[in-house]
Amino acid sequence: MSILAARMIGSGSYLPEQILSNAELAGRLDTTDEWIRTRTGITERRIAAPGEYTSDLALKAAQRALQMADVSAETLDFILLATTTPDLVFPATAVRVQRKLGVKRQIPAFDLQAVCAGFIYGLSMADSLIRSGAARRVLVIGAETMSRAVDWQDRSTCILFGDGAGAVVLEATEEPQRGILSTHLYADGQYEDLLRTQGGISHGILLDPASGSGFLQMRGNEVFKQAVKALEEIVDVTLAANGLDKSQIDWLVPHQANIRIIQSTAKRLGMTMERVVMTVDRHGNTSAASVPLALDEAVRDGRIQPGHLLLLEAFGGGFTWGSALVRW
Ligand code: UT7
Repeated sequence: MSILAARMIGSGSYLPEQILSNAELAGRLDTTDEWIRTRTGITERRIAAPGEYTSDLALKAAQRALQMADVSAETLDFILLATTTPDLVFPATAVRVQRKLGVKRQIPAFDLQAVCAGFIYGLSMADSLIRSGAARRVLVIGAETMSRAVDWQDRSTCILFGDGAGAVVLEATEEPQRGILSTHLYADGQYEDLLRTQGGISHGILLDPASGSGFLQMRGNEVFKQAVKALEEIVDVTLAANGLDKSQIDWLVPHQANIRIIQSTAKRLGMTMERVVMTVDRHGNTSAASVPLALDEAVRDGRIQPGHLLLLEAFGGGFTWGSALVRW
């Protein structure tokens, strides 16, 4: 059999129950609902419960994706989990999800760290595995508990992030022009100081809520400019690689960091916001989970239909960024 593409056969997502509104944040910090909404587009975000870990969110998203695909977890050949907020340093959160899914086959499973671009990186890896014949069915998850990576005293960052998970099941298909048509990945380490955590195992600095040490720090304004530029460029690269015109894209499914970044990418594509899947208002920035969360929402509410052409993109810490062109 000649394998031509990796097709998405199911999607799923999960958000923790607790909603944290801008009004609640304004009660604790020197900020306002108005500032957060106008600068970011965010009105609320979800926060994982005590004892609820990244693998728990990932498990629920994965179960829903498997259910939509109508396949059992036992038929998976590979699990890739993109996260910046793993349950533990090790074992990998992907392996914990493998166990929680009850998978008895000793299939490979590992975590992938490309921060907010992690899910796009995961799709690209899964596409390569399937095209090469190394795997026929791959589960790709983006899952985060970003609420545990931010300093809740730092108004410039904590208001931005939320928790959640999304997943897709990919399967080998012989149908040409179906599934992942192309992926484009980039990294540039020279901007590390604009967006990074201050702590980590090898640095010997742990994330400590009492002292506020170790948490995420960002020079938001400078990250914003780099994100807009990189995403505008990647849109052009993706279209050119496929010989497509921007008018042929049915849906933009962007990383949900800031409504103003999303609007600038949509403008580059000549798209009205009606053709952009937006969740940033209700989810905030869920890092690697944001693209699959948005994708699943639009698949389940019927906006995305079989045959539609989707442009997925993300930009984040590293910097890392990437895009995927997908025929649903
Ligand atoms: O997903 C990974 C990639 N990340 C991103 O793409 C994030 C990109 N950056 C952004 O989304 C925006 O830069 C932010 C939303 C983070 C910030 O918006 P901004 O318009 O770039 O604001 P700013 O950082 O330039 O700050 C403007 C002012 C500052 O006060 P002064 O110096 O002008 O007096 C900040 O101290 O807003 C102040 N400020 C706040 N005020 C009220 C910062 N955070 C807050 C806040 N509430 N929460």
